[in-house]
This record gives sequence, structure tokens and C-alpha cells, in this order.
Amino acid sequence: MKKDNVSRRNFLAASGVAGLGAFLNGYTATTLVASDALPDDKPAILGGKAMTLGGVSGWPILQGNEENLLLEVLNTKTWCRTQNFKVAEFEKTYAAMNGAKHCIATNSGTSSLINTLAALEMGPGDEVITSPYTFVATINCILAHYALPVVADVDIESFQIDPAKTDAACTENTALLLPVHIGGSPADMDTFLEIGTRRKLPVVEDACQAHLGKWRDKNLGTIGTAGCFSFQVTKNLSCGDGGAVLTNDDTLAEKIYACHNNGRGRGLTSSDFSYHSVRARNNRMVEFAGAVLCAQTAGIEKYAEMRQENGMYLNKLLSEIPGIVPAKLYSGVTRSAWHLYMFRIEKEKFGLDRDTFCNALLAEKIPCSTGYGAVDWGKYTK
Ligand SMILES: Cc1ncc(COP(=O)(O)O)c(C=O)c1O
Repeated sequence: MKKDNVSRRNFLAASGVAGLGAFLNGYTATTLVASDALPDDKPAILGGKAMTLGGVSGWPILQGNEENLLLEVLNTKTWCRTQNFKVAEFEKTYAAMNGAKHCIATNSGTSSLINTLAALEMGPGDEVITSPYTFVATINCILAHYALPVVADVDIESFQIDPAKTDAACTENTALLLPVHIGGSPADMDTFLEIGTRRKLPVVEDACQAHLGKWRDKNLGTIGTAGCFSFQVTKNLSCGDGGAVLTNDDTLAEKIYACHNNGRGRGLTSSDFSYHSVRARNNRMVEFAGAVLCAQTAGIEKYAEMRQENGMYLNKLLSEIPGIVPAKLYSGVTRSAWHLYMFRIEKEKFGLDRDTFCNALLAEKIPCSTGYGAVDWGKYTK
């Protein structure tokens, strides 16, 4: 779209992308006003009336049973996960819905990653290869163990970490591969598994944004050695703050549990003070968060399907607009989790640069971000 050709109608046709991106996350789109109904033809950034006149309704969406379950926890005074109540119930449900043998709930995605890396005994001298295009917690969990984060660049078409560049970045000190399913769309897991097997390296999936996404016949987070999830409030499944690790490895599951529970294994009585010799801390999920998750899981499959339908629909429509390039999905993708709707703006073809495009959407009250900042230790840059 050329700058001198910015009409209200074609601007909104183009910029509807992020509004519908919000829709993917479960927002209702009914408050978005069709361009035909607008009183003028001027984008809000140029002084017109904002497109979302009624605002966009919020995420998360209550499933109905949250209050009952929270009161049950409150009134029975089973507030700590070691009392085996709602957190244990959620762990069972989440493991089953993902086809994993074990689920260990924690108090955040960050602590899920930290405890998984602790259980895999990452430490000084170890190199962990991960993506530079991620939320900074992926890097922080490596640094928490005084290991060295090594970034392998992303595939620009998909925004996902490039497995060929990962392979090339391996050295004799590489101890772990940590692909991130950024935006909730799958990294190329066939190739990551092949590299992991060939080099005898564990592969931990940062699936913090990837709830119920699928690669071939497996859910994301269940393909590698372990997968880590976040239930922070913006996520597709949330309880405010929380996390979980999925794994099929019995020994690793027990070790991760002990790491997040001050060295104490599952099923100990309150008077049994025997410990595993692991690098441990207390990162337990509280029962109140477990109660909210038990209620929230009721809707997650329905929303996962809705996002997939909407995401594919958007991909089809937006790829028809010159200068908007939706993120590529690899052929092994059965379902993206569509936590974020990701795309590139090609300035020359579209006629606006990325920052102007984003500011124009924000002026219409449509959620939009230019993406994650650099994860190095310099001053904050984009
Ligand atoms: C890719 C990624 N990794 C890790 C995390 C950390 O999760 P949490 O915020 O629950 O600690 C997040 C959360 O936004 C994330 O997006």
C-alpha cells in the first residue's frame, strides 16, 4: 500500500491484522467496527476516530468454576501444594491432555526452565544453545546456573531458531539444546531431535507460549527431553503466574520435582526430611493457582481450535496484501498455539515502516508490538 493511497477502508483492511491477532487470543471481535460503518475515512493516527470504539474485551476468560474451586481451597485450608489437592489434580489433567507421562507444576515458566536445567545439571563451562528472538527469561534461566547462553540465529521466514545454525554453533562444551516455540508456533523439531540424538545432547523445549500446539502427532513440550510452560496471565492457559514441566522420563521428573521443592521428592510425609542431592529451591505452585488452572483447562482445547482456524484464515487473507508476510509454518506443524500472530512488514512494498505501522494500529486501539528486544547485556534496544 502506498502512502498516498491510504484510505480508511484499505488501511483497515491491512491493519486489521493485529486486531484479529488479539481475536486469536480469545478476545471478542464483536467490538471491532467494520470499516463501512465508520464515520470518516481517516486513520486514528491521522486524527480519525479509533476503530475499536467499544474497546477490546479482556483476556483471560473465566470458564465458570474458578470461584467455587478457589473457595474450596480457601475453606479446606489446603493452601500448599504439598497437601496434594488442586495442583496435583491439574498436573494429572495437563499431563493427560498433552499425552505426557509426568507434569510438574511450578510457580512460573521461568522457574520451570530453571528447575529443568538444574535437574539436567547445567553449570559453569556448559554451553546452552538457544534463540536470540525470545522473551529474556529463556536466557536468564541459563545464566541462573552460570552456564553460557549461545544464540543460534532465527530463520527469518518463521522467526523460529534455525536448526542448521544450531548444529553449526555446537562445540565440545555444548551441553543442551533449548529451542523456543516462539509465538506458540513450532520450531523444526524433527531436525532438533536429529541433532540431539546425533550429538547425544538433551533437547528442552521452551514451550512457554505453545500450549496445545502440535508437531506431527505430538503436542509441543512433549517431543524433546522435557518441555516448559508458562501460565502467566497473558498466556493461552493462565492462572496469573505459574508454570509446568512435561516429561516422559521418570528419573528426570523426580529430579525436577525435588529441585523445585527444596530437594524433597514427591510423596514424602511432612515429617520425612530426607533429601535428593540436587541444586534446589522452593518454586512450588500455590493451591489457589492450581484451582484456577483446574477451572481454566475446561476451555483450552476449544480455544486452541478457534485460534488455529482464525490463524489460518488470517494467513490466507493477509498474504494477499503486498508487503505483509505472515510467519511461515513448517510442514511438520499440525497446529500452532497462535499465542502471538507474527508477521513481517516489507517497508518498500507496503509503504509504511514497522514502527509507523504499529503506532497506527495502537492509535486504533488494536494491540500490537514491534517484537522482542535484544537479549544481550547492553542497554535496552529494539
Ligand atoms: C518464550 C518464553 N520463555 C519463558 C517465559 C517465562 O515465563 P514466566 O513469565 O511465566 O516466568 C516466557 C513468558 O513470557 C516466554 O514467553
